[in-house]
Amino acid sequence: MTIRGRSGLPKHSDIGIIGFGAMGRNLALNLTEHGFRVAGYDHADISGLSEMSVLCRSLPELIESLATPRTLLMMIPSGPEVDRLIDDLLPFLEGGDLLADGGNSFFRDTERRAGRVGDAGVEWVDLGISGGWHGARHGPSISAGGSRSGCARVEAVLGAVSASVDGERCFARVGPSPGGHFVKMAHNGIEYAAMQIIAEAYLIMDRLCGLSISEIQAVFASWSGGEMGSYLIQITADILSKRDSETGKPITEVILGSARQTGTGRWAAVAALELGAPAPTLAEAVHARFLSEADRPQVSQAGGAGKPAGENAASQSENLARLKGAVLCSTLCAYIQGFSLLAKAGKKYGWDFDQGRIAGIWRGGCIVRSSLLGIISDSFRANPSLENLLLAPQLARQLESRESPWRHMAREIARFGIPAPAIMSALAYYSAFVSGSLGGEILQAQRDYFGSHGYQRVDRQGTFKTDWLNK
Ligand code: 6PG
Repeated sequence: MTIRGRSGLPKHSDIGIIGFGAMGRNLALNLTEHGFRVAGYDHADISGLSEMSVLCRSLPELIESLATPRTLLMMIPSGPEVDRLIDDLLPFLEGGDLLADGGNSFFRDTERRAGRVGDAGVEWVDLGISGGWHGARHGPSISAGGSRSGCARVEAVLGAVSASVDGERCFARVGPSPGGHFVKMAHNGIEYAAMQIIAEAYLIMDRLCGLSISEIQAVFASWSGGEMGSYLIQITADILSKRDSETGKPITEVILGSARQTGTGRWAAVAALELGAPAPTLAEAVHARFLSEADRPQVSQAGGAGKPAGENAASQSENLARLKGAVLCSTLCAYIQGFSLLAKAGKKYGWDFDQGRIAGIWRGGCIVRSSLLGIISDSFRANPSLENLLLAPQLARQLESRESPWRHMAREIARFGIPAPAIMSALAYYSAFVSGSLGGEILQAQRDYFGSHGYQRVDRQGTFKTDWLNK
């Protein structure tokens, strides 16, 4: 039913959505289709959206149209605009009303906003909504941060339209605020890494294996089912089958190779550094985007990148099998790093994340959904207090059984001068866990030598110093 009332609007809408960009609009359509009464407002003209239950011309009108206590969802880009919107909304809201932020806000901003909104007696919920516009339209994955009661109120509406896997909704309260946005940020750190690993695989198939775009497309299509199956691999196969409508060339031949970002993956890498959670593959994916935008043309022409130092003796099928192993293991390491970031943050900030549940809600609707998340979620379920996913037998077996092809592929990557930082850093990360010492004894000694910082010994507790200059 379309109600276009202005004055005297019925005060019955279940949710008010502010911001009708691709995400807000599609979420509103999804909700309306599921029988929810949605009131919408955007500063741009949205009068053409006849699918909406109630279209409002102003924020007061939107607030007026909602059933009380009200539930409002901000679906606007992250940044100072969110603060301005909160300024505009708060004077109209009453105790018991609920304000949710469904954008990709930085968790530190969210923390501050949650305090401010809470002080005004309004319930705050931060939502990490993943799945792009398609997910919003057909079922996103949602991590919610806030009080139990606040999240339950949001779940009653958005939970009902989220994706579901094996009968389980991809909506979860992951902890207090700003947990919902922190979890989404970790998701995006993994997203950047998984995307970068795929981009590297594309480059390797081109430069090492000499495959054409349609042959590369066929490889990704063959990987998109079973153990390697993921949304990102599937869309890559789709992308590679697309031709540019103007030139008729494969679309990837006309798209510029410099990748931008809005910064969510960078925040994840920075948070990992701040927390001391090793996440090198997540960080490399961010660096790779910076590098892709950097001014490199002359250097790359002079360097002759991609010219092999010797022949590649392996057959094409051997190379592809090795690459498959390398992609699977590197992606798994990216997940492991993302989950250890969550574990570290959960511990440090007392958020007590249920990692099994987070893995569960990422199995559907979101950008990093994949078959591997099924194994990850099973591993956490089998052992909820699992400290590190590398200790999960099923995952350890996945990595062990492919370690050799992965290392072979790394050797070829190095020999052919192919820039593949995510795959290489994931291998170095894994090696750090399966190797004994990492050479930290030298670092400790150096610190003590020049800075008298002291060092720990293998045979005794305590801190020790050496007079290094006294021979
Ligand atoms: C999702 C995506 C989505 C988006 C971000 C990150 O889960 O649906 O993460 O939120 O693509 O804007 O993209 P950037 O690459 O621009 O940081």
